Amino acid sequence: MRIAQISDTHILALSSELPEAATRAEGLRRCVADINRLDVTPDLVIHTGDTVQTGAVADYEHLADLLRPLKPPIYLTPGNRDDRDNFRTFFRDADGQEPFLHHVFDGFPTRLIALDSIIPGRQKGAFCQDRIQWLDDTLAAEPDRATILFIHHPPFNVGTHYVDGYEDAADQAALAKIVAKHRQVQRLMCGHCHRSSQQLWAESEATTMASVACDLRWGVDAAHLQAVPIYQLHDVAANGKVTTHSRIVPN
Ligand SMILES: [Fe+2]
Repeated sequence: MRIAQISDTHILALSSELPEAATRAEGLRRCVADINRLDVTPDLVIHTGDTVQTGAVADYEHLADLLRPLKPPIYLTPGNRDDRDNFRTFFRDADGQEPFLHHVFDGFPTRLIALDSIIPGRQKGAFCQDRIQWLDDTLAAEPDRATILFIHHPPFNVGTHYVDGYEDAADQAALAKIVAKHRQVQRLMCGHCHRSSQQLWAESEATTMASVACDLRWGVDAAHLQAVPIYQLHDVAANGKVTTHSRIVPN
């Protein structure tokens, strides 16, 4: 199966006069068009959060308009810029653990689980005991199926003080402990830090990706690819092993 991952689009309302509003919308529009014309169409698209900039209804209206032409189904994971209530209004209902926006995909050979790591109004992430218990139970239910996790906040440091860390460092350690315990987890895919990185984490592999919002991109690729939309393609083998390609959207 093939997954396209987009992240940190930070879309603003269509009425916004901020200069970045137009460039971010154009970047997402180009990603959507590119995904639609790939030789091998992704089975689904997953957004790893900060879908909009302010969390306002008008931001989500614009985001929904931009995503409407997408051919594969899309699933969005909330980030610290998202508002859970407005998010639900436009994209989906909660999936099993109020008030969190977790989701389990069971329609694919590899099990996919999207996790809600946000605290309303706070920039850094959290994974409280309720969420830990839910994830532990959910992973324990199917121990023999290869599984990929999606979460906005990386529960590890990427070397950027502004985004590193959770509100409570104990949450990161608890999440690592649960994932290490469930050896079917092949990969943790994250957003939030607006740069690509990868590292071994919790007996698994963890990755972050560049923001689709070009003006917010950080890291070694930021200066060279300033106005170029980037997203990721993950090709998942039958055993759940993942090969990742960074897709630089052609003009
Ligand atoms: Fe972001």
